[in-house]
Amino acid sequence: MSLNIKEISELDRRSVLHPFTQLKDFATGRIGDPTIVETGKGIRIRDAAGNELIDGFAGLYCVNIGYGRTEVAEAIARQAYKLAYYHTYAAHTTEELAILSDRLVRMAPGRMSKVFYGMSGSDANETQAKIVWYYNNLRGKPAKKKIIARERGYHGCSVISGSMTGMSFYHDHMDLPLPNILHTGVPHYYRGARPGETEQEFSNRRAAELDELIEREGPDTVGAFIAEPVLGTGGITPPPEGYWPAIQAVLRKHDVLLIADEVITGFGRTGSLFGSQHYGIEPDLITVAKGLTSAYFPLSGAIVGEKVYAVLEEAADKVGAFSHGYTYSGHPIGAAAANAVLDIVEKENLPGNARAVGAYFQAQLKETFAQLPIVGEVRGVGLMAAIEFVADRESRTLFDPALKIGARVSKAARDRGLIARAMPHGDILGFAPPLVVTREEIDEIVEIAGASVREVMDELVREGRKI
Ligand SMILES: Cc1ncc(COP(=O)(O)O)c(C=O)c1O
Repeated sequence: MSLNIKEISELDRRSVLHPFTQLKDFATGRIGDPTIVETGKGIRIRDAAGNELIDGFAGLYCVNIGYGRTEVAEAIARQAYKLAYYHTYAAHTTEELAILSDRLVRMAPGRMSKVFYGMSGSDANETQAKIVWYYNNLRGKPAKKKIIARERGYHGCSVISGSMTGMSFYHDHMDLPLPNILHTGVPHYYRGARPGETEQEFSNRRAAELDELIEREGPDTVGAFIAEPVLGTGGITPPPEGYWPAIQAVLRKHDVLLIADEVITGFGRTGSLFGSQHYGIEPDLITVAKGLTSAYFPLSGAIVGEKVYAVLEEAADKVGAFSHGYTYSGHPIGAAAANAVLDIVEKENLPGNARAVGAYFQAQLKETFAQLPIVGEVRGVGLMAAIEFVADRESRTLFDPALKIGARVSKAARDRGLIARAMPHGDILGFAPPLVVTREEIDEIVEIAGASVREVMDELVREGRKI
């Protein structure tokens, strides 16, 4: 079967409900045809019309090993030929899954004990919430259930994970968030600091606000705090100095579990294997997805620490089986893909590449963009970075959202062959290239991004705007 571009577009338009796509614009053709992605190699993808694009966002920050790695395709095929599926209910397993789980428990930060598998970051965070509730029921604290997340945090879009997500457009018209999921302030120094406040003072203030929130709600009603080591979809924002030690002190004081959402930061993106290691975080529960298989197969993990697991096991004689599981929990093809991907992460030292090439990337971005009149902040860590645009540098005033500056720069970059994501919150251009990216490829990315920002600046001048 081989359809042409027009036929594929028509079938798609008629029958796919696309995420994060304006439905009427798509249905009526106002935003053109879908991009039909056909192949990929390294940091590049190619569409059906033959256009090559540098993927400066690794899909959705997930194709860390780059496209077209045949080792992973072969591992998937080997497992599919041998055994395409069996479940993990009632103590069934496969060799690949046992090897992967041992590996994850050993490589994860903190004192981890077990891995529960799902298919997405959203469902893994859903599992984490249920584990927090289960844990507190089993240890006789049935009121300790509220979960605190952060404004601008992103944890997925299912019912609990979507409630944890701290951006209103993920809630609007969808009856979220659930009660008992609360949000505290975002640790974005550039936007949130008071005049004269140091980073450490700002971090202390955010920790004090968390402390006050827990006190106000009652510590016996708060079960967990969930956060990304580096804020991702909310704007790719590394934490300010001293943030994590200050936050963890508050959580320990109130016996509140810490869920580290490492869906983006896991497996090397910050330059450390896990973001928790990068920032000295000691989580009780860790969520992984994306980089676990570099998106070659949908697989996620809710990694459960010893402290929590011990309570679950202890109570088992009383409460019976752990009654939570998916048909596809621990899918053997996913496990085989993950083992092949982690072999590459280790053999090619991708965290090391993210550290070295990432430092170069951050320096090049700062040099190219930091002084431009429409750029407020250039920030990032390892191979995740963002440029935040402002109408006025001095006052840090935002552009009128109707001008869609972030989207325009992203479109200009795409027209020049680079995918850089217009982040959903504010005028922010995000980068998260595959972790195999080289310095030469970084030069290409920065050059195209630079030309794209200058193009939009010129447009603004032509429109008669003062920049
Ligand atoms: C930090 C974080 N957590 C959870 C998720 C949700 O993952 P998924 O889209 O696989 O459900 C994402 C997705 O971008 C994420 O960035």
